[in-house]
Amino acid sequence: MNMYEIITKTKHGQKLTNEEIKWLVDGYVSGEIPDYQVSAWLMAVNLMSLSDEETLCLTMAMKDSGETVDLSTIKNVTVDKHSTGGVGDKTSVIIGPIVASCGVSVPKMSGKGLGHTGGTIDKLESIPGCSTRAEFSDFIRYVNDTGFSIVSQSGNLVPADKKLYALRDATATVDSIPLIASSIMSKKLAMGADCILLDVKTGSGAFMKNEDDAEKLASLMVRTGQNAGKKCMAVITDMDIPLGRAIGNQLEIIEAVEVLKNNVRGNLYDICIELAADMLMMAGKGAKDECVKLSEEAISSGKALEVFRRSVSQQGGDTGFIDNYGVLGGAKKEYAVYSTSEGYISKMNSEDIGLASLELGAGRRTKESEIDYTAGIVLEKEYGDYVKKGDKLAVLYTSTADSFVLAEKKVLDAVVITEEKPPARKCVIKVIE
Ligand code: URA
Repeated sequence: MNMYEIITKTKHGQKLTNEEIKWLVDGYVSGEIPDYQVSAWLMAVNLMSLSDEETLCLTMAMKDSGETVDLSTIKNVTVDKHSTGGVGDKTSVIIGPIVASCGVSVPKMSGKGLGHTGGTIDKLESIPGCSTRAEFSDFIRYVNDTGFSIVSQSGNLVPADKKLYALRDATATVDSIPLIASSIMSKKLAMGADCILLDVKTGSGAFMKNEDDAEKLASLMVRTGQNAGKKCMAVITDMDIPLGRAIGNQLEIIEAVEVLKNNVRGNLYDICIELAADMLMMAGKGAKDECVKLSEEAISSGKALEVFRRSVSQQGGDTGFIDNYGVLGGAKKEYAVYSTSEGYISKMNSEDIGLASLELGAGRRTKESEIDYTAGIVLEKEYGDYVKKGDKLAVLYTSTADSFVLAEKKVLDAVVITEEKPPARKCVIKVIE
């Protein structure tokens, strides 16, 4: 086998064999195949795409390039969830406890987020004392004790993805649907859960900006997961507006606790119930309407909040903040943003809101950036609300940024006010089973 022939085949839309794909992935990880040849192949894939069978082979070869997680000592059925990421997405922290309180285990390993507001790991680490670094045996014990744990990824999981993603990032080949699908699914399959739910977001604040691409990606990932022998489904969800009202690590944790205390309604609550129900359904807990009921009851009974409290405690966190948010300390500075006109909020561009929170210190511009856990935004008004000139739209928080000017501008740019009331939005756009 040689790389020149493999590049030529993909360039002409001819199918690669399993052996060729495995040889390419193994050779790249071991350093035998150079960056320049793999770059050329990635560009050929970007332009010509891959078949489902090739995508599955690439996914499996990437998964097998390193260690995989053995969850066989977890006593219940295991379900993992992946979100393609968005602004104000704190759903994992809410859904995990809901699902766990219904007798299904949610063992989750995440990476640190690069982006506007950090990732799930950052949100959890914003709780005083809460550590997401754990020995594997402790992780399993946590999940067996409470049904839910989120820890930082450790070990040598999917090294092929680390190398290939860095190369894609440098060669303008990130936006290829089979390459994204194999990158995400190789990591999900390496985590070893019995069932996988994929939350593919679409809209201004999402990785997939348009619905057609989101659907293509979601369908390909579901087919890949199912062909790999897993129960797998995807939900395409709205990320044109932020999820909930809080953006920023500690602010999002507070909002998550408010959902678990049954004090929140709106797109965040709806999506959490929907996704939790899908996870329970995949785990065999009943039909969708029964699982929706189980999820709602997990919140209204306080069972999910109890799982969250125990989970924070077992990871060393101070649970005092759950009953007194003042324990978190809060931001040193705050600043209110007011509406400059009157009418209905008909747009709230989530990408701009995310960029505003990045200005305040809530996210990372580079892998090395330090996050200000107190930083972020609380939206006082939402999509569809009527506002008068001078009404408070949002409050900005920071302990590290030296001015609010840019963040305020981004928030004002994000909000479009019109005379007509905008149509209601659906948080779940499509389900792919
Ligand atoms: N997220 C991933 O994990 N991989 C991609 O290729 C794109 C987004």
